[in-house]
Formats: sequence, structure tokens, C-alpha cells
Amino acid sequence: MAALGTSITVATAPAAPRGYNRHPRHRAAALRSQAAASSRRLDLRASASPAVAAPAPDAPEKIVAEPLVQEASEAKLSKLACPICYYPLVSASDQLGEASTLECRACKKVYPNKQEYWDLTVSVGSTEYSESMPAATEMFRTPLVSFLYERGWRQNFIWGGFPGLEREFEMAQTYLKPAAGGTIVDASCGSGLFSRLFVKSGLYSLVVALDFSENMLKQCNEYVKQENISDERLALVRADISRLPFLSGSIDAVHAGAAIHCWPSPACAVAEISRVLRPGGIFVASTFVADVIPPAIPVLRIGRQYISQITGNNTFLSESEFEDLCKACGLVDFKFVRNGFYIMFSAIKAS
Ligand SMILES: C[S@@+](CC[C@H](N)C(=O)[O-])C[C@H]1O[C@@H](n2cnc3c(N)ncnc32)[C@H](O)[C@@H]1O
Repeated sequence: MAALGTSITVATAPAAPRGYNRHPRHRAAALRSQAAASSRRLDLRASASPAVAAPAPDAPEKIVAEPLVQEASEAKLSKLACPICYYPLVSASDQLGEASTLECRACKKVYPNKQEYWDLTVSVGSTEYSESMPAATEMFRTPLVSFLYERGWRQNFIWGGFPGLEREFEMAQTYLKPAAGGTIVDASCGSGLFSRLFVKSGLYSLVVALDFSENMLKQCNEYVKQENISDERLALVRADISRLPFLSGSIDAVHAGAAIHCWPSPACAVAEISRVLRPGGIFVASTFVADVIPPAIPVLRIGRQYISQITGNNTFLSESEFEDLCKACGLVDFKFVRNGFYIMFSAIKAS
């Protein structure tokens, strides 16, 4: 990975005249141009562009080697925060623009641009340590499940009462109306089926497609390219739902389709969602409920907990438990619709 201290990002890269780069100063300028062009390509693939500043045409050469880590002020990056310190991130790319990274202003941890997405997980960069999540998270990290997800896997959810993508999108939009024009995070986006619809709707200034699975994000990027979706208002981010890389109170809406039952700790996740939402911000989620097992019968409740611990799957929550959890995390005005094992609910961050 490129050293951060040799960052340079420039706004424009005009074509150099023939023979222009023979002079050392011109070579340096050409290098800057290449860096900008390459940096822009990387930015597009990671769907996030670092803040840029044009150098003066006759700027001294030493500027090339000088540290130039810029504040991530552009809309796409302005909401991102270090998942360790929750401080803003600054953007940087190396001299040749070969690698662009984000760096925490406080702890200086570097978060790499993985071409298709920004990796903003806490343990990124560690070489020895690796952590495995519960099965419900790990399964979706595999290339096979990521590939199959929109090719039949997700469609099967109709057997549990899910109304189908189009209807689910419409329903979510009714709750999301007050967030129009703002930033929406599609949390646990999978292959980005909703993220893409959010972008296509043109209703949001920024859509963040966020998932823990590297392969889901790669798949999402593939679909974005196939469907010719502009990534101007789309950012792909790898993160853990229990440690969201956003500034507190900076997000207008969080959508989480068919995901809560996969989260290692719904409580930590909902608390994080509440932290990043602005007052009045909206949380819309759909998931499976299985309150056919009456939680009021203590022995069944214990059984339910054991099943959750073994499978790492938190499917067995009822609507009243979701409401309870939202309230406990400062989210009010709980509304829901039910159909079989399917629930879609919304809640609002208290002002
Ligand atoms: C069933 S898929 C839902 C995908 C999509 N939102 C939908 O509506 O179909 C669940 C997603 O949750 C993600 N996930 C599981 N654990 C996660 C975690 N700890 N942090 C973020 N995402 C997680 C998985 O990678 C997977 O893509």
C-alpha cells in the first residue's frame, strides 16, 4: 500500500503537449496529471472521490513530494468516519495515484480503497488477527452465495411472506419520504438490489451501499456496471453493522432489507443506527419474525436463545420485541406491516 505522506490529488489532467515531459519540471507535472487520471478511475470504482485541489501551473516541484493529505470534504466522503474513533476521515492517494486511501484524522489508521469499495472495517490492515462472525454473517461472504443471491436465493423469500422486491421498495419508500434529498444508507445491502433502486429513483443526494461481505459488494459493483448506473451518488462501503463508519447524527435514513436476522447483535446494530441518524432520521427494516413460538412461555424462550446462539441467527424476534429494541435505542414512532413471517417496520430518531 502506498505511503500516505506522499499524497497528491488534482482536479484536472489536461493532455500534455508532445515532448512536454522531457523537462524534469514537466515530467513532474505529467506525473501529477497521470496521478489525477488514475486517481479518478480508482475513485469511480470505489464510488467515492477524494477531495481535490488543482495545483498552480507553475507550482514548484517540491509540492510533488510534500505531504498533502486533504480533508474529505466532498459530499461522498464528508459523512464517513473512522469506525474506531468516529472522527472524520481524510483522503489521500500516492504520488502516482496508484492507491487511494482514507486516513483517520485522530488515530491515523489507514483504510484502503479496494477498487470496488472502501474497506472501513475495524480490523482491516491487520495481518495476524482474523475474526470470524456467526454463520449468518459468514455464509454471505462466500463467492457462491453472493453470486446466487439475486439469481434465485432472494426470490425464495416470498415463501416466508416477503412481497417481492418491487413491492418492498414501494413500501419502504412510503416510510422514507421525509428523507428525500438526503443521504440514505442501505445497510447490509447484499448485492445492492435496493441500493440500485435508491440510486435510480433519483430521490437521494447520496446512497451508501454497505455490507460486511466483500463478495456481495463486488457483486453489487458488477450489477452497477451492467445496469449502467452512474456512481456519482453511490458509495460502496464494507463495514460491520455494529460499528458504522459514519459521523454521529449525519445520516437521513437507514434501510436494512431482510437483514436483522443475520446480524450478530441486533441491539448493537440498532444502537449504531440510532447514533448515525440525525434527529428525525428514519430507520426502515424488513426481516423474518417467528413469533409462532410464544415468547411468553419461558421454556420456549430459553430454547429460542439456544437456537440463536448455535446458528448465530436472530430470527426469532417478535414485532413487540423489535419495537422494544427501537425504543431502547432512542427510536420512536414505531410502525409495522406483517405478512406471514415477514415484517417491515419503521422508526424515527427522537429529536
Ligand atoms: C439476506 S441478505 C440481505 C440483502 C439485501 N438487503 C436484501 O434485501 O435482500 C443479509 C445481508 O446482511 C449482511 N450482513 C450479515 N452480517 C453483517 C454485519 N455484521 N454487518 C453488515 N452486514 C452484515 C450479509 O453480508 C448479507 O449481505
